[in-house]
Amino acid sequence: IDTISVITAKRDGNALTDAQIEWIIDRYTHGGHVADEQMSALLMAIFLRGMSRPEIARWTRAMIDSGRRMDFSGLRRDGRPLVTVDKHSTGGVGDKITLPLSPLVASFGVAVPQLSGRGLGHTGGTLDKLESIPGWRADLDPDEMSDQLEHVGVVICAAGGDLAPADRRLYALRDVTGTVESIPLVASSIMSKKIAEGTGALVLDVKTGSGAFFKSLAQSRELAETMVWLGNEAGVDTRALLTDMDCPLGATAGNALEVAESLEVLAGGGPADVVELTVALAREMLDAAGLPDADPALHLANGMAMDVWRAMIAAQGGDPDAALPSARHTDTVVAAESGIVSRVDAMAVGVAAWRLGAGRAVPGEAVQSEAGVQMHAKPGDRVRAGAPLFTLHTQTPERFAGARAALTAAVTIGEQAPQRTPLVIDRVT
Ligand code: URA
Repeated sequence: IDTISVITAKRDGNALTDAQIEWIIDRYTHGGHVADEQMSALLMAIFLRGMSRPEIARWTRAMIDSGRRMDFSGLRRDGRPLVTVDKHSTGGVGDKITLPLSPLVASFGVAVPQLSGRGLGHTGGTLDKLESIPGWRADLDPDEMSDQLEHVGVVICAAGGDLAPADRRLYALRDVTGTVESIPLVASSIMSKKIAEGTGALVLDVKTGSGAFFKSLAQSRELAETMVWLGNEAGVDTRALLTDMDCPLGATAGNALEVAESLEVLAGGGPADVVELTVALAREMLDAAGLPDADPALHLANGMAMDVWRAMIAAQGGDPDAALPSARHTDTVVAAESGIVSRVDAMAVGVAAWRLGAGRAVPGEAVQSEAGVQMHAKPGDRVRAGAPLFTLHTQTPERFAGARAALTAAVTIGEQAPQRTPLVIDRVT
């Protein structure tokens, strides 16, 4: 096997053999004469030619084998084994669901090992959001994770460098070579990390629409089916919800703003769409954990989910009572005309929040906890000309112009109420 023959095989539309896949991932990850430009060429060939299911499974396994697998099968509480269930979203705008969802599910006695990432581009990252809480830390070692899972029931933290290291390098390369939006590459990237994480069951929230990686329902469905198949092949009980990401979730996009909104949900309130999706995903996770009759809405109403949230934040050094940081500068975008809002474009809002400082332009850059967009109108709402549509938040007011530019066509105002599209579009098992 040599690098060029692997590239040309895929370039010419052939399936890669198991040996070719194992060889190239191992050599690339562990420094064996596969250059970045060669891997980039192979990624583009995969992007254009695709991969069969068996190839994707082999590619995923090779990425898992590039690092260490975690194992939570020995977790115990009161002498009894703990069931683990995780959730992963393919990424969206205003998608803070992990924050209320993970403690909610843990409040039923299920362990939730949530290894999360940081935002890149227009999508926010769970760790960036939680880091707006004073003192909270994302980096835990495996013993701290296990201890917290046994005693608190939930941990949200950064993946260690040895979890699917091949994905870390491949993702960085894809990000700068136009090869992100490929079903085999996205499916293997996400599932390698989730299978290596060692969760017993997994619920995927696969987004579709303007703010998602895949805009069409057909492609999003294929991504969901591929990931569900990969998970079950690897022995992880995996199912997916296909959900709308044409409109941002909730009323905020940005780090501290989204934490504040999550706290409203944990206190029994919050925007209806965030509550709906949190409860729908909690039902799936609890069903996967063998608790099909559990009522997630009850634990939002009676404070049990909030109690677990507070314990989780404190266990990771955060102060659950500390005030969240707020922006020094705000600006308002108003409606140009009167009418009924028919669309709020998720991509535009995501880009605006990113430009205000909520996201990063290059990996490793610091984000502003305070930055983001507050939305005052959602589809179906009636607005008058001059009424506020968005409040922009930032520490650096020179960023307002770029954010306003991103939002110029974000809201469509018409005469008629829009057709309601369901938030949860379908379930894939
Ligand atoms: N999230 C990931 O972890 N990988 C992808 O390829 C896309 C989204």
